[in-house]
Amino acid sequence: MKTPSALSPQPSASLLMEKLVSLCKRRGFIFQSSEIYGGLNGVWDYGPMGVELKRNLKEFWWRRNVKERDDVVGMDGSILMNRAVWQASGHESTFSDPMVDCKTCKGRFRADQLDAIACPMKPSKKIATCDGEKTEPRDFNLMFSTHVGPMADESNKTYLRPETAQAIFVQFKNVLETSRQKLPFGIAQIGKAFRNEINPRNFIFRSREFEQMEIEYFCRAKDGLSLLDYWLEERLKFYEDIGIPRDKIHVKDIPDGERAFYSLKTYDLEYEFPFGIQELEGVAYRTDYDLTQHINHSGKPLDYFDEETKEKFIPHVIEPSAGADRTVLALLCEAFSEEEVTDQQGKKETRTVLRFHPRMAPVKVGIFPLLKNKPALVEKAQALARSLRPHMTIFYDEAGAIGRRYRRQDEIGTPFCVTVDFETLGDPDPALAETVTLRERDSMEQRRIPISELKDYLSDRVF
Ligand code: GAP
Repeated sequence: MKTPSALSPQPSASLLMEKLVSLCKRRGFIFQSSEIYGGLNGVWDYGPMGVELKRNLKEFWWRRNVKERDDVVGMDGSILMNRAVWQASGHESTFSDPMVDCKTCKGRFRADQLDAIACPMKPSKKIATCDGEKTEPRDFNLMFSTHVGPMADESNKTYLRPETAQAIFVQFKNVLETSRQKLPFGIAQIGKAFRNEINPRNFIFRSREFEQMEIEYFCRAKDGLSLLDYWLEERLKFYEDIGIPRDKIHVKDIPDGERAFYSLKTYDLEYEFPFGIQELEGVAYRTDYDLTQHINHSGKPLDYFDEETKEKFIPHVIEPSAGADRTVLALLCEAFSEEEVTDQQGKKETRTVLRFHPRMAPVKVGIFPLLKNKPALVEKAQALARSLRPHMTIFYDEAGAIGRRYRRQDEIGTPFCVTVDFETLGDPDPALAETVTLRERDSMEQRRIPISELKDYLSDRVF
């Protein structure tokens, strides 16, 4: 058995990101989109491991925020919506970032990030201090425009949605009437959003196509501020429950002047990424701004009738809005670890481990026969794999030395491995018969467990 002798010194931020991006590609988490054609800047594909990780995240978010609550219902809105939605929400006129052009290198850069972006001609310098001749900042609208139908003109122009939230606001009345909810209640949605970011960067942190997990929690104006604090606590707990420690999340109370003009108060939840402390989620008190805008632009009543007081009013809303891809990146950064281990021959080597919370791990258990040329072991291991597969994601592997198989599972973050060995086939000692070796990823400890107890043991720990 290998024993961890020391944690290797942690690599620098850029080296750590390089290692993570390379691991993500090597082990099937995340690939560059359209890679064989040179890629597409700011767009990423999730491979077999990445899609499981992201699904685990989204499913846990849905379970926690929709299934386990009786005051939040779900919906799944379309990506294409009537252009009027974006005119009413203010996105068409104001959803922009300041941009400068460099006349020297012909690059375009976000004006508020010039001190963070390297000059393409002289990468040792940042744009803020390079010699390039820059224009004054001007607004660049981040929405991707498109046309609906065969004519490409102004009359059928619309946009790919830059946030999922607006579908919730414009369907507020339909959801309210069909779900028969009473205030306070929420509508939750997970889905793709698109922003033509001027400078996408930091891997999947800032991309042009991404997924959001949003709740619009409607309430009476008098409850707005206390519900904002309630949702902040809910969201902090969520991150702890997926394996991101509380002390790695920083809560920023966004000061006046930096918040959206309609927000009474906003908290950003920021994570300590290797490249700096950056936003993971916003929890915003959006008042009645969005519903009011849609009432004014559509002419339709989106108000709420209180049966008890017989009052009609426009509800206020609290919005916890998280990025699924940013959270995946935080999970990967948090899980990544390299440590020096010593094998039985005393040789030192580096063990790369993704220490995911078992709930998030793409594969829950690796199942191996000790030797692949012993049919009895292979049959038993395959039968075990078949019996567990309906209950959790498993990975069956019979290739190579057992140590290498453990190492491959460590690299994708599998919390448990099970080896079917000769004792499994019937040890004369009844206590050992029908048992397997269970190896735990983090401690690397191995112990025997009866096959009959395995499913319950694992289920208790991986969901
Ligand atoms: N409906 C509110 C809203 O969209 P936001 O702060 O613009 O608010 C919410 O976005 C979350 O969406 C962010 O905290 C972040 O996690 C994620 N997000 C925003 N832009 C992103 C991008 N370009 N790439 C990846 N995630 C992004």
